[in-house]
Amino acid sequence: MIKIVGLSGSPRKGATEYVLEQALAAARTFSPEVETELVTVRGKKIAPCNGCGYCKREKTWCCIPDDMQPLFETLIEADGILVASPVYVMSATPQIHAVCSRMRPAMHCYPGMLRNKFMAAIGVGGTRNGGQEQTVTDLINLFGTRAINIVTNESGGYTGGKVWSQDRGAEGAAEDEIGMKTATDLAKKLAEVCLIYNKGKELYNKERENG
Ligand SMILES: Cc1cc2nc3c(=O)[nH]c(=O)nc-3n(C[C@H](O)[C@H](O)[C@H](O)COP(=O)(O)O)c2cc1C
Repeated sequence: MIKIVGLSGSPRKGATEYVLEQALAAARTFSPEVETELVTVRGKKIAPCNGCGYCKREKTWCCIPDDMQPLFETLIEADGILVASPVYVMSATPQIHAVCSRMRPAMHCYPGMLRNKFMAAIGVGGTRNGGQEQTVTDLINLFGTRAINIVTNESGGYTGGKVWSQDRGAEGAAEDEIGMKTATDLAKKLAEVCLIYNKGKELYNKERENG
């Protein structure tokens, strides 16, 4: 089995969660060996990193007592992370930026922790060309910085999923059939890459054990 975690960067239950639900459902149709879980920043208190240096100094997790650590533990369990963010002023939401800034311990204290994971990105904007591409790039940069491997879209879908919600939540996003397909195709590709990687890794490890 492989696990794909969908991470919603929206503080609201709207278009982004809908897109993610549909994309995760598509990933499950790819193979019975795919399980999924949706997690969200909505309703969570996640402060941005304040650069105090505690994690680097003490070689341990962040000392800010909020909802980041349990969220982090879910991400650590995942083989693939499908991140969807609304476009907020042409980029990913401040909530997603906060999450990524707080992933610092995984780089400095537990190096290698994220190196076998894959991520793919979806941007959901209220305007048709309102910054979905920039948001996808932003997400790729944020998670790539954490040494997570990037999975891009099918040919013609470019770097990630791009959905136009028309500022009308799930209903608006559902009407963007072309955009929704970029998200569901991307999710299936992420599932495929994770499955092949895991099976390949098993084989590779066996070969190494057998000399
Ligand atoms: C603070 C803020 C900034 C926004 N900036 C943009 C923007 O730059 N481009 C755009 O297309 N939509 C923008 N929007 C609209 C949202 O991206 C859009 O409504 C999206 O569907 C919200 O996702 P949600 O329904 O999951 O909350 C903005 C919304 C907010 C609240």
